[in-house]
Amino acid sequence: MSHDITKRIYGNELNYLKEVLDSEFKSSEGSTMMRRFEEAFAKRFEVKYAISFVNGTATMHAALEAWGIRPGDEVIVPPLTMSATAFVVLQANATPVFADVDPETFLISAASIQSSITPKTRAIITVALYGLSPDMDPIMDLANKYNLLVIEDNAQSFLSTYKGHMVGTLAHCASFSFQSSKHITSGEGGIMITNDLDLAERMRKVQSLGYAGVSATKGKITKRDIQDPNYSRHVTMGWNYRMSELCCAVALAQLENIDELVGRRVEIAKLFEKACKGYEKWFIPQKVDSDYGNSFWTWVARITHPNISWYQFRDRFVELGGDGVYAAWKLTYLEPMFQEMNLLGRESFISTENKSKYQRGLCPIAEQLQQQLMQFKTNYWNLAEGKKQAEVLTKTLVSFS
Ligand SMILES: Cc1ncc(COP(=O)(O)O)c(C=O)c1O
Repeated sequence: MSHDITKRIYGNELNYLKEVLDSEFKSSEGSTMMRRFEEAFAKRFEVKYAISFVNGTATMHAALEAWGIRPGDEVIVPPLTMSATAFVVLQANATPVFADVDPETFLISAASIQSSITPKTRAIITVALYGLSPDMDPIMDLANKYNLLVIEDNAQSFLSTYKGHMVGTLAHCASFSFQSSKHITSGEGGIMITNDLDLAERMRKVQSLGYAGVSATKGKITKRDIQDPNYSRHVTMGWNYRMSELCCAVALAQLENIDELVGRRVEIAKLFEKACKGYEKWFIPQKVDSDYGNSFWTWVARITHPNISWYQFRDRFVELGGDGVYAAWKLTYLEPMFQEMNLLGRESFISTENKSKYQRGLCPIAEQLQQQLMQFKTNYWNLAEGKKQAEVLTKTLVSFS
């Protein structure tokens, strides 16, 4: 199916922004656009609660704080992901424990999580990397057995499916990002969804300075709440993590077009998939089993040819008219901040035994994959440009044969 769009911003973005500006940010009614956006997001994902945040990093930090993660607790994360997945664990003063990934899907698995569990483990953050969900059923079995919170990090995954279920409804809560590269965007922004009222109430308090007047479904205190000299505002500590009305306005309009915006990325990914047919011996796409729906934030393959380097392939692709290739992030524990323990004081919460693990060799599969992965953009709003990129990929592969 072809998605009849030619650009990314084409819906109600300006109308909703105008509504916010026309209101002159008067707060007597509370946050109208935030409420509208949260309600619409919850409805689209068929969950009870959606709480918006300044970004996707803040969502996960808030979930860990809300769950009661404290210094010394361990949280299991994959090492092959954008760094925020592990940073939020440090922000909550806890210890990230890195579990290796599957060589074919590039995703964290129940088997690697199982071998990383210790008596200090309190939570797991799974990542639907590049738009593909991990195998969540066995992960949730483990979580139930050990009483662990599971957060789905779906910054790169919108409308993906897993065994007929929407990705984002598989764990206790799920985080999304609206940073500019994501499927739908407001420049910056994030949202956490859940069906758990208690968790939602606590996350809202963490999001909004622990205000007494906010709740799972109410994002901002109003004038009426505070016009009382004896009003106690703060029932707990918290952060000021609210998403702005302007960003909520843009995100609401983007949400209205989510099917087309995600559909276009899937359409481009299918073109790349077709383009590399016959070369799977040494140019191997991310494996997507039949009961998974990938929303393809990017289309990814690994290059395993003994005589063609990552750089040679990238340079040839660009020479032939390609738009460039992104490499996978360096594994988080190999970044200088981990190697040099520049954790803004959090290093004192991490045991010597855990510190000694942040070394090459900790997650050998992820270490190998990270050197091989080639990420191709799928966000071509002009379909002709996407088709051209897929053709260039075929030409590149042919040129090496
Ligand atoms: C997998 C993953 N997790 C978390 C984030 C953090 O989201 P944000 O930039 O909105 O804080 C991103 C992207 O930015 C991401 O790709």
